Amino acid sequence: TNGIKIAPSILSSDFSKLGEEVVAIDKAGADYVHIDVMDGQFVPNLTFGPPVIKCIRKCTNLMFDVHLMIDRPERYIEDFVKAGADIIVVHSESTIHLHRVIQQIKSFGVKAGVSLNPSTPEEVLKYIINDIDMVLVMSVNPGFGGQKFIPAVVEKIKAIKKMRADIDIEVDGGVTDETIKICVDAGANVFVAGSYVFSGDYKERINLLKLKAK
Ligand code: DX5
Ligand code: ZN
Repeated sequence: TNGIKIAPSILSSDFSKLGEEVVAIDKAGADYVHIDVMDGQFVPNLTFGPPVIKCIRKCTNLMFDVHLMIDRPERYIEDFVKAGADIIVVHSESTIHLHRVIQQIKSFGVKAGVSLNPSTPEEVLKYIINDIDMVLVMSVNPGFGGQKFIPAVVEKIKAIKKMRADIDIEVDGGVTDETIKICVDAGANVFVAGSYVFSGDYKERINLLKLKAK
């Protein structure tokens, strides 16, 4: 099936040297760069947007996995494509027209993903799951790094895997060497890790995640 991928979240990196941090996780063996965009509306925090993404695009050829935690993301899809996103993930809760925004993302030739908050059931994926490349399962409430993994999402991962066996399932929030394996066994294959990777030696931490995923 789909190989294990590690996507360090730059939310936990040192923003004063963001370019160097991106180069460092590339060298450390990251598969994707996970980029958390927050608007202070959909989530109670603010981060960065297309201009910052465009700047770090020069630092690496890694896939940019752009996680939009913003209201009505349809307003900004083109900006994120132009900034260098390879996959754009929107929250099902952030737009009335989920199907339309997925088609919009794909019209630019980039990959489309849909994210679900911890309380959102997988049923919302029913009529769009064949249109997307990835489902992002939030295993914490979005907005902040360093929170504790919510075990109830393991059932949701299993249910999504049943809906479509070949889809990439990404887990985001509280992923560590202790929580990764239960998610792999449930059917997930892409793992966001923010505080876990950035609070230690990046290469050691990424390798340990890959080891514990086996
Ligand atoms: C939370 C973000 C996550 C966050 C994860 O809203 O979507 O990507 O950076 O951080 P950790 O791995 O520390 O839980
Ligand atoms: Zn994220």
